[in-house]
Amino acid sequence: VNKHDVTVVGLGAMGHALAAAFLANGHRTTVWNRTPGKADDLVAGGATRANTVAEALAASPVVVVCMLDYPTLYDVLGDSGDGLDGRVLVNLTNGTPAQARAAADWADKRRAEYLDGGIMAVPPMIGQPGSLVLYSGSEPAFDRHREDLLCLGEARYVGAEAGRAALTDLALLSAMYGMFAGAGHALAMVGSEQIDRLEFTSSLLVPWLTAMSTILPTIADSGDSGSEDSPADMQAVGIANIAKASNDQQLDPGLLGHLVAPLRELIGPRGAGADLTTLIEMVR
Ligand SMILES: NC(=O)c1ccc[n+]([C@@H]2O[C@H](COP(=O)([O-])OP(=O)(O)OC[C@H]3O[C@@H](n4cnc5c(N)ncnc54)[C@H](OP(=O)(O)O)[C@@H]3O)[C@@H](O)[C@H]2O)c1
Repeated sequence: VNKHDVTVVGLGAMGHALAAAFLANGHRTTVWNRTPGKADDLVAGGATRANTVAEALAASPVVVVCMLDYPTLYDVLGDSGDGLDGRVLVNLTNGTPAQARAAADWADKRRAEYLDGGIMAVPPMIGQPGSLVLYSGSEPAFDRHREDLLCLGEARYVGAEAGRAALTDLALLSAMYGMFAGAGHALAMVGSEQIDRLEFTSSLLVPWLTAMSTILPTIADSGDSGSEDSPADMQAVGIANIAKASNDQQLDPGLLGHLVAPLRELIGPRGAGADLTTLIEMVR
């Protein structure tokens, strides 16, 4: 396989891991970072340190950018944008779909092919099994560089519309934060009775969440979390009991935020009896 030379701009926690993965996979790798010292170990491992962004863009046909945010990306690439002519710009900076689309137009004006990416991994996972990067934008560029990108993790192309990877990334992150919020509350509940949180997590919480996740395709299909097996009234009472038990354990009511929307939805327009109304107040 023909390994293309790669430039990585931005060597924060993630950019550094990306550059290290390209290097470890035998790509000639050029790096640039505002704080040059973050490249020291990469340079010791064979990477080339570009002294300017222009030099970094000139070095490789593929330019991977991983910055704090989009304003930083434009700040850094802005003056040297001309150097993108004929390059493939792979932007792995987290942002909104609108920001990704604007960056695709920006790159197009500079005659660069554009791929936007969403990294579904933390830095130590890069290049390891379980690492996934979502891409959208130029399909020809993705096809040409798929092999290069595979060294970061699974490379999943989600569509030509440049914002699609960002939308998918943010949707997955939203699910993750919802899970963390629920798990955080679960740990506070068991912690209030001195139950071993680590033992609870590995022997019950993780297997439970894993088992429950198998229901997700059904919910996605019907758009409804209620079913004949799990009627809405039953679920509403269950959620209300979580609120009540949490209150009894003197837990921070702020932790219950993730229960408000499902409880309201389950009760629906028919309204709640006095008990549930009190509980909704508690959850709010
Ligand atoms: N870390 C993760 O777990 C993770 C996971 C998935 C996705 N991501 C995404 O990866 C991207 C980078 O994250 P990170 O973890 O690498 O963040 P980070 O460690 O904070 O690094 C930020 C990068 O942006 C640069 N930067 C910030 N402000 C700048 C400025 N004003 N001018 C020039 N450069 C500037 C930093 O340069 P200096 O080194 O000079 O400060 C550094 O290269 C983000 O979009 C993030 O959402 C991260």
